[in-house]
Amino acid sequence: MKRTLIIGAGGVGSVVAHKCAALPEVFGDLMLASRTRSKCDRIAAEIGKSHVTTAAVDADVVPQLVALMKDFKPTLCINVALPYQDLTIMEACLQCGVHYLDTANYEPKDVAKFEYHWQWAYHDRFADAGLMALLGCGFDPGVTGVFTAYAAKHHLDELHYLDIVDCNAGDHGKAFATNFNPEINIREITQKGRYFESGRWVETEPLSVHQPIDYPGVGPKDSYLLYHEELESLVKNFPTLRRARFWMTFGQQYLTHLRVLENVGMTSIAPIQFQGQSIVPLEFLKAVLPEPSSLGAGYQGQTSIGCHIRGLKDGQTKHYYVWNNCDHAEVYREIGAQAVSYTTGVPAMIGAKMMMEGTWSGKGVFNVEEFNPDPFMKDLGLYGLPWHEVVDGPSPFDDYGSHA
Ligand SMILES: NC(=O)c1ccc[n+]([C@@H]2O[C@H](COP(=O)([O-])OP(=O)(O)OC[C@H]3O[C@@H](n4cnc5c(N)ncnc54)[C@H](OP(=O)(O)O)[C@@H]3O)[C@@H](O)[C@H]2O)c1
Repeated sequence: MKRTLIIGAGGVGSVVAHKCAALPEVFGDLMLASRTRSKCDRIAAEIGKSHVTTAAVDADVVPQLVALMKDFKPTLCINVALPYQDLTIMEACLQCGVHYLDTANYEPKDVAKFEYHWQWAYHDRFADAGLMALLGCGFDPGVTGVFTAYAAKHHLDELHYLDIVDCNAGDHGKAFATNFNPEINIREITQKGRYFESGRWVETEPLSVHQPIDYPGVGPKDSYLLYHEELESLVKNFPTLRRARFWMTFGQQYLTHLRVLENVGMTSIAPIQFQGQSIVPLEFLKAVLPEPSSLGAGYQGQTSIGCHIRGLKDGQTKHYYVWNNCDHAEVYREIGAQAVSYTTGVPAMIGAKMMMEGTWSGKGVFNVEEFNPDPFMKDLGLYGLPWHEVVDGPSPFDDYGSHA
């Protein structure tokens, strides 16, 4: 009997639960577990299916996770809680013989540093246990890795230049809100930028490099160079890459709020004393900001996320662009979500489906680009994220140098 455990009942957890519940032949009985059980119960009530149950769990505590897994006996655990919980959930999966999937790599709570090495270090233990762990299976990371693997399989003999471009041209009507967990989001974008070039990492000051990029169906939007975690695995798995960068759009209103919050110390992760208690300013800020799962109603506009890839095909330079646009209002009508949660949750469900059906299998710890992209690309269209491609169209970048 197949069973699937989903941990995390936020914006992404809700999408994963809705999408998995619609495929009982793939996922079997579902359990949605999170720190606050009432949030799981609300999602289960929306889904309204008797094969979906809920539980409370503190995923920072391995014995709690082990007790839950021993009781429910899942085949697979989909981790859509926070990156802080990746290692404890992987540990519990190993103790209970459960396969593992997540959408964001591990990050220690006291240092804003997200890297794969902590999770890659679990490879031999998962392999010895005959288990599979699939890392970073959201949109970015996730679909961006699948898009890159698809370009390598069908369009290019050698990948040279990769630019991942992520635009949210939506408007949720709030003065300031983040589209996924505020703590994780703000930690990510206030860090120094970083990109890969000629075999080494180049650092830039936070949000200091930007340029307009034209997004299909959206138009030109100022886009900022950021470090993003999939760059680390993609340059490892596609060693012909000469340069790999990641760009994300931000509106001026968002950036102004962020600058003020940073200037007054509200984005700091160093604990301070407040009324006799130790608190972390960014955790307090998270508590007063809207929850990502609450943004869907009235959200207008689209996201557009894709990969511009340049390389060689039959000795000739070729440019390949592949992307998905997702409409906030449409996904709200479908399952009450906003597009950032949806574009993360749908690929997590598809990756989990690949594992449950054995389409993607292996023993150890893997990133998505290590598997055959074709069945995943087919499912993207079927489950709500149709994609488009342009071969040898124009590139928004004019800095390919003499290699172009
Ligand atoms: N790859 C991608 O494309 C992508 C994009 C966006 C987001 N993400 C990732 O997706 C994940 C979820 O994001 P989100 O927007 O859904 O965030 P969210 O709305 O803040 O939800 C996080 C959920 O995790 C639960 N949680 C936190 N700590 C927990 C613990 N110790 N034990 C059990 N549950 C715990 C929270 O419970 P409470 O409600 O009790 O706090 C909440 O239900 C994050 O890891 C984020 O980085 C990936």
